[in-house]
Amino acid sequence: MIIKGVRMIRREFNEVYKYTNAPQKCVIAITKDYAGKYNLITLEWFMRTSILPPMYAISIGHTRYSYECLQKNRFFNLVFLSKEQLETAILAGTLSGKDLDKLEKSKESFFLGRLEKLPILKRAVANLECKVVTQVRSGDHTIFVGEVKHSYLDNSKDVLLVSDLKRK
Ligand SMILES: Cc1cc2nc3c(=O)[nH]c(=O)nc-3n(C[C@H](O)[C@H](O)[C@H](O)COP(=O)(O)O)c2cc1C
Repeated sequence: MIIKGVRMIRREFNEVYKYTNAPQKCVIAITKDYAGKYNLITLEWFMRTSILPPMYAISIGHTRYSYECLQKNRFFNLVFLSKEQLETAILAGTLSGKDLDKLEKSKESFFLGRLEKLPILKRAVANLECKVVTQVRSGDHTIFVGEVKHSYLDNSKDVLLVSDLKRK
């Protein structure tokens, strides 16, 4: 337990991380596998990395099916989820595309984007279609950096936070 107001002292990393990371947005990256099937993965490790051109980085664990998808197809759609997509975030963050079609199971409605025909989720706050331009290994994850090619927005919605999943 962290007591507020106590002076700077050494703590376990996980305790420091938990305290400093929130609030964090909960996003999904949509990729395509070798057979052309779309796959959804819930992410909290992502960031903007360039102004011009606009770029976003996503960090993907090496055990994830999405890692295989990104090695094969160098595109992803970064979806900023809305509060109404909580169930989709849980589905995409707990099951693997190795075992099932998460897009179909989610019943999310979508249209195909302009870049590589990746699904654009209609209930989301925003969708960013990205082309991978570089990648770098980071421990047990790889950071894929994507250039934003097309962006979509519905500003009538509120963004989903990682803490919204924990409250459920
Ligand atoms: C809130 C939340 C955040 C997550 N953030 C990440 C992340 O940033 N990077 C990652 O590789 N996995 C993350 N995960 C785990 C993956 O979403 C999960 O392992 C998923 O089932 C992998 O799907 P796939 O095998 O179809 O790629 C997160 C899960 C949750 C619930």
